[in-house]
Amino acid sequence: MGYLRLFGTMGAEASFREEDFFGREEELSALTRAALEGSRGIGSSFMIYGPPNIGKTSLLLKLAKVLGTSADGEGLPRPFPLYFSFSQILSHPLALSQHFLQEFLLQLLRFLGDARPSAFDPAAMCDRLASFGVTGCREILAAHERCTAEGDGLSALVNALSFPFSASGELFYPVFLFDDFQYTGKLQGVPDGAMLSILRPYIKSGHFPMFLSGSSPGRVTAALKREGLFGTFQMIEVGGLSTDSSVRLWGHLCERRRVDIPASLLPRASERIGGIPAYQRMLVEEIFFRSAKVPDAVTLENLYAVSVTEGKLNRYWREFFENTFPDRARRGRAIRFLKRVLCDRFPLDTVEGAISLMGASEEEGESILSALEFKGLLKADLDQLAFVGDPVLADFLYWAFERGVLGKGTSQVAAAIVQARLSRTAPEPGQGGDHARRVAIVKELMRKWDLREVPLLLLDFGKFREKFGGKGLLEVVIGMEREAVRVRLPKVSSVSTGYRASRGGPRFDFDLVAYGFLDADFSEENLVLWAVDAAVEKNLGTRVVEHFENRCRLLALEKGLPHDRLRKWMIINETADPAAVDLASRYGIHLSHPTQLRLFLNLFGLEELEREPEPASSPAAESPRIGKTLEYELVLPIKADSEVVAARVAEEVAAVAAVDADTVDRIKMAIIEACINAFEHSASESGKVRLRYLLSPDKIELFVQDDGKGFRAGKTPEESKKNRGWGLKLIRELVDDVEIITGPDGTVVHMVQQIGAVPANPGPLQQGEGGPASPGER
Ligand SMILES: Nc1ncnc2c1ncn2[C@@H]1O[C@H](COP(=O)(O)OP(=O)(O)O)[C@@H](O)[C@H]1O
Ligand SMILES: [Mg+2]
Repeated sequence: MGYLRLFGTMGAEASFREEDFFGREEELSALTRAALEGSRGIGSSFMIYGPPNIGKTSLLLKLAKVLGTSADGEGLPRPFPLYFSFSQILSHPLALSQHFLQEFLLQLLRFLGDARPSAFDPAAMCDRLASFGVTGCREILAAHERCTAEGDGLSALVNALSFPFSASGELFYPVFLFDDFQYTGKLQGVPDGAMLSILRPYIKSGHFPMFLSGSSPGRVTAALKREGLFGTFQMIEVGGLSTDSSVRLWGHLCERRRVDIPASLLPRASERIGGIPAYQRMLVEEIFFRSAKVPDAVTLENLYAVSVTEGKLNRYWREFFENTFPDRARRGRAIRFLKRVLCDRFPLDTVEGAISLMGASEEEGESILSALEFKGLLKADLDQLAFVGDPVLADFLYWAFERGVLGKGTSQVAAAIVQARLSRTAPEPGQGGDHARRVAIVKELMRKWDLREVPLLLLDFGKFREKFGGKGLLEVVIGMEREAVRVRLPKVSSVSTGYRASRGGPRFDFDLVAYGFLDADFSEENLVLWAVDAAVEKNLGTRVVEHFENRCRLLALEKGLPHDRLRKWMIINETADPAAVDLASRYGIHLSHPTQLRLFLNLFGLEELEREPEPASSPAAESPRIGKTLEYELVLPIKADSEVVAARVAEEVAAVAAVDADTVDRIKMAIIEACINAFEHSASESGKVRLRYLLSPDKIELFVQDDGKGFRAGKTPEESKKNRGWGLKLIRELVDDVEIITGPDGTVVHMVQQIGAVPANPGPLQQGEGGPASPGER
């Protein structure tokens, strides 16, 4: 076999320059310390991971330099840092073993002081090593050549990799810096994890410092677990630089390119691009090549936007996706999917959810996820997914989507990126308060709906404008009365501000989510959800509509709701782009202009809401909280509508505790569900349900007890589970905690709702802290 490559000219390691390296002091000192312990025969193992281009390779190479110059400690062996990247084309084990051998011999000779071996000749190099006192190399080389000749890739690899372990001794000890380790899972004809099996005895021996680095920790950790090595490894995640280091890097880069950026802009610029050094370099290059002056933040934002839409940052990610997904259709899928997760912030964290969001076949979905994981853009741990939060990638995806899917021009997209950024950092004064007030008004309105029929025009801005554009209000009011097309509004039983999918999970940011029923009875068949957003921007654009639609889809997915049972409603702030109106109508999103809302309020006799701002009342100041536990008890006959009594009592109890209206609604709704459950499924003999309300300073506890036959009595387990299941699911969403004790003597449903001003643990339906996602937030 010929020697294909010139040594030492491959990859990032060749171009690494120590003087260009900034920050990472903590990682370096931890790793250096661990590596130096190798001199006393202590080998720690580390797994270093992070997304592409974050600086893993640079960190390893910097570490190699640090170790190379470490003072030798009193006759102890010196660390020999062996850097090896598995990323190079060498997916054939024979080629890999050959390459590894070369790298090892070369790096060791250099380490020992051989300036430049004249020709690449392993045998000669082994002799040369012998002259430095490193013996036994010839034998291993011979064994390796034998395996190679026999075409036994795996054995060749075993030989090559064991070389460093046997060659060390008094003089030095190897410190392994194995980069891009995830590629070892892609060796031809060698099972995934074989590399770890080869290394396993050395790792287990605990004598050799071993640092594995790579982009897909999920894969590698799975392999580590299979090999029983997981506990041996410490994980180090590489993220962006600290602001301090990042600012120093800006200084260095700007000086080298003679680019002038005012120092005052640098901290924010660092934050803007997530402190990722590679982006800093690309951005400085961009400024340099455009010979641009950067006097202020807006100019910098503009240059950034140009770079991410048509310049270097754009090219970087475009090539990345082209390489990762050579197939165009698949690339489009992957980009669209990531865009939803990273820009629209779909709160996705399972493989299953990801695949259904992609709308791909399971097989294709998995292969897309797996490619993304391999490249380090997401991390999979069993079924759980975590995505990188890279702000530049998010902007790129936004560009790709707007450009590729919506066909927008580059400068349009760039402008939107700049605008989003600026409006996010400088919200208009007073806007937040106005928005909260509009949301409160709509909420009040929805509570009054109660199955009434209203003209559909109130919810359809496109048609409304067509019909009444330019007409006076009176004329409109009269016209509305004659309007034949009407919709029946649901009976709303609870309206929440803000919404969370599951306990502790990510938030769906809606201004309002209302639970309602299409008919007087509360049944699953009748359930509808209304998701509502009141636009913050003066002019509603397609992007905001898109963002809303995406969240709605996810909500429907989450809830397993058929499309027609999730109603989507946006309230326009002042005006709307015709394109946005079209898009909303295409998505079936109700759209109401402030004028329509005014008419709506008028219909329900709520106009005064519009005029007088609600007096700001802080719940804490409203009424002194009770200091001890109060208890109420109620026994209800099992008959239609008696759950309403239970709800009514709950309301009174809640009033004693002076909790907010939202919480009251939730408690009522939960009580009703629990009662209906008990009525329908307990098959109780006494025909009674006992309720207990326990009120303490920080929580309300509710007990709904029946003396029926327990959970599954009288039905097939499946059926019983299904019926119970739905009500319980709803209850779980409504209150903070639910516990069910069921047995042959009956069932107790125990619900807990925290009511402290600052809840100890945020419940599933939390008052909207932080308000809606601002449109620029991606
Ligand atoms: N600590 C750092 N200081 C300055 N520049 C860095 C640093 N880390 C990385 N870089 C720059 O980022 C680029 C990508 O880093 P690299 O180490 O190749 O990332 P990874 O191995 O994680 O993909 C490098 O070429 C270098 O220019
Ligand atoms: Mg790298």
